[in-house]
Amino acid sequence: MTKTIQNLALGIFAASVLASCSNNGSNKNESADSTNTTTTTMKTGIQQADWGESDGKKVFLYTLTNKNGVQVKISNYGGTITSWIAPDNKGNKSSIVLGFNELKGYLAHPPYFGATVGRYGNRIADAKFTVDGKTYKLAANNGKNALHGGLKGFDKVVWDAAPLADNTPSLTLNYLSKDGEEGFPGNLKVSVKFTLSDDNELKIAYDAETDKATPVNLTNHSYFNLTGDVSNTILNNSIMIDADRYTPVDTSLIPTGELKSVKGTPFDFTTPHKIGERIDQVKGGDEKGGYDHNFVLNKKGTDLDKVAEVTDSISGRKMEVYTTQPGIQFYTGNFLDGSIKTDDGKPIMQHAALCLETQHFPDSPNKPAFPSTILKPGEKYHTETTYKISVMH
Ligand code: GLA
Repeated sequence: MTKTIQNLALGIFAASVLASCSNNGSNKNESADSTNTTTTTMKTGIQQADWGESDGKKVFLYTLTNKNGVQVKISNYGGTITSWIAPDNKGNKSSIVLGFNELKGYLAHPPYFGATVGRYGNRIADAKFTVDGKTYKLAANNGKNALHGGLKGFDKVVWDAAPLADNTPSLTLNYLSKDGEEGFPGNLKVSVKFTLSDDNELKIAYDAETDKATPVNLTNHSYFNLTGDVSNTILNNSIMIDADRYTPVDTSLIPTGELKSVKGTPFDFTTPHKIGERIDQVKGGDEKGGYDHNFVLNKKGTDLDKVAEVTDSISGRKMEVYTTQPGIQFYTGNFLDGSIKTDDGKPIMQHAALCLETQHFPDSPNKPAFPSTILKPGEKYHTETTYKISVMH
């Protein structure tokens, strides 16, 4: 069942049940079935659909639609972006992210497709860290290391959804990660707000507060294939990353601690290069070839600056990434091996998609020289990342 959410202008909370949304992608409320009218507090530009249940909690799928008909679907299961429909340069629409139509695809635990990742995105060496003189042990869910928040990270929990009455479609997801959850100290109150602008930008704002010092590193793990078809790899896309340095890693993908110059290496994307051009020279983890590295962004401070751009000549689509964060993990889907299939049965092969995970550097809790990821009581965690999609003619 899909509900179209109406404007709150008069403070009247009325949502109408629609048979379907208009095909041209506009967000007009076309018809209402009065027998099914329910009360709810949401706004034009967002639809809510029942999407099943997990942990005894209701799961919903929200569709954010802007005035250009760009549609982003986000679930409160894992704070997951499941689909992102954007036109190519001929006006054809397809989803530019990996995802599934049904919740069961996610309950089978794909590798973080579209998920909100936390409490600590990326790796913590030997699954342990020390804060305020106390050592905390985490689950080793990636060899001997901890990855992406543990066995049941933020990507696998059901968030509370709080749609807001703004002028552009937005969705806020809230989650309380309890003291001790996945081994981390402190009750962490997290909120992630997704906003889809009429400039085809998806803005993601992350906020958190804690009552004990804890590492926090929140990110989104969307896998982009700008061609809109996983049969094409991302190797012919060009990418620019505004980073003069990166963090080299050991064989288990833990940074050595060095901030190494990209000059003269396959990591130099300060000018655009095709992803496939030098990828053979790059070893990922477990001998799976490809990029899976954190780049040290050139940006200074915490303004929302442009840090990366991907272009695709097949569709003419372009994606720009803006962030307040100091790092970005460029991951070329090295571990994808065809064992997961799309809803229409296509195997998702190695390099079928890329991730640009804005973040603090991996293993920061054990690397005192890296910018700190420790959030203390009384402090406010706030970061923002924007992905902007456009077409080149
Ligand atoms: C991140 C990691 C990769 C891999 C993926 C999920 O991008 O850096 O090594 O674990 O998540 O498969």
